[in-house]
Amino acid sequence: MAELRFDGRVAIVTGAGQGLGRQHALELAARGAKVVVNDLGGALDGTGASSGPAADVVAEIKKNGGEAVASTDNVATTEGAEAIVRAALDAFGRVDIVVNNAGILRDKSFKNMSPEEFDQVIAVHLRGSFLVTHAAWPHLREQAYGRVVMTSSPAGLFGNFGQANYSAAKMGLVGLTKTLAAEGAKYGIRVNAIAPVAWTRMTEDLFPAEFKERLSVEHVTPLVAWLAHESNESTGETYTVGGGRVARVFVAEGPGFTKKDGLSVEDVRDNWQQINETEPYLLARNIGEQTAALFQALR
Ligand code: NAI
Repeated sequence: MAELRFDGRVAIVTGAGQGLGRQHALELAARGAKVVVNDLGGALDGTGASSGPAADVVAEIKKNGGEAVASTDNVATTEGAEAIVRAALDAFGRVDIVVNNAGILRDKSFKNMSPEEFDQVIAVHLRGSFLVTHAAWPHLREQAYGRVVMTSSPAGLFGNFGQANYSAAKMGLVGLTKTLAAEGAKYGIRVNAIAPVAWTRMTEDLFPAEFKERLSVEHVTPLVAWLAHESNESTGETYTVGGGRVARVFVAEGPGFTKKDGLSVEDVRDNWQQINETEPYLLARNIGEQTAALFQALR
């Protein structure tokens, strides 16, 4: 089978100064993509800024014979997001791939989390992914081609103590992914999300040291590259990935309990077990398929 190449494609990778984003950028560039390496260069909590990390990754790509430009713009502001897309257009004349990866942490138990700490995390992960994709969208539509990869998290999909802000942002990205998949379908734009597990500065204090190599970022990037490739036609999906394992995660609806002639509180109580059944489930690709199933049950 032929190697998957990205020659002629232009990719934006946000938060690519280190960790997962750096690996995505290196891999896409090694396979022929021209890459905008975006990174604000701040601390894990989002404070501070430095042009070093993005510049270092660009230098590494160039040393390996690839093409890249650095951007130190902030994904969380409209001007920053527009500047990131402009960097791609100015340097390479187009944009084909957007990998929304930039992220910060402000972990606190819900009781102690301030509204500011909630907003700051939503701003980078959810609003930042919206803004950068929104700035690229007219160009993707115009050329009737695009690949967008969002970075969700198992913390959002399954919940995690101390991450109310982060998990809300990460599950928000799943909804954004599904709706952009629907809106991008007829323009050849495919939008998917990954929920990675990898050893980076974000997780090095959490995982057992024995997993450092097994959970290296190299085990996540192949999924991102596949979702960013023109031969991938899947859209609106979310995949967990880490340690060499890739799996689809899906939102499904159980068979439920239906009473057509007036549902009472007691009906809900008395049928709670049936309401919580998961099999057989409905895997609707969009709200149209989900409501069609409801209408069918009502007929
Ligand atoms: P990291 O901290 O190594 O990389 C994140 C990068 O984003 C940093 O270089 C940072 O400077 C940059 N960044 C932060 N705010 C930015 C902004 N406003 N504008 C531009 N760049 C900004 O962390 P890691 O682990 O590589 O995380 C990458 C993504 O993967 C994040 O979205 C994270 O939430 C997600 N993730 C990571 C997991 C893991 O196991 N490492 C687990 C689940 C999700």
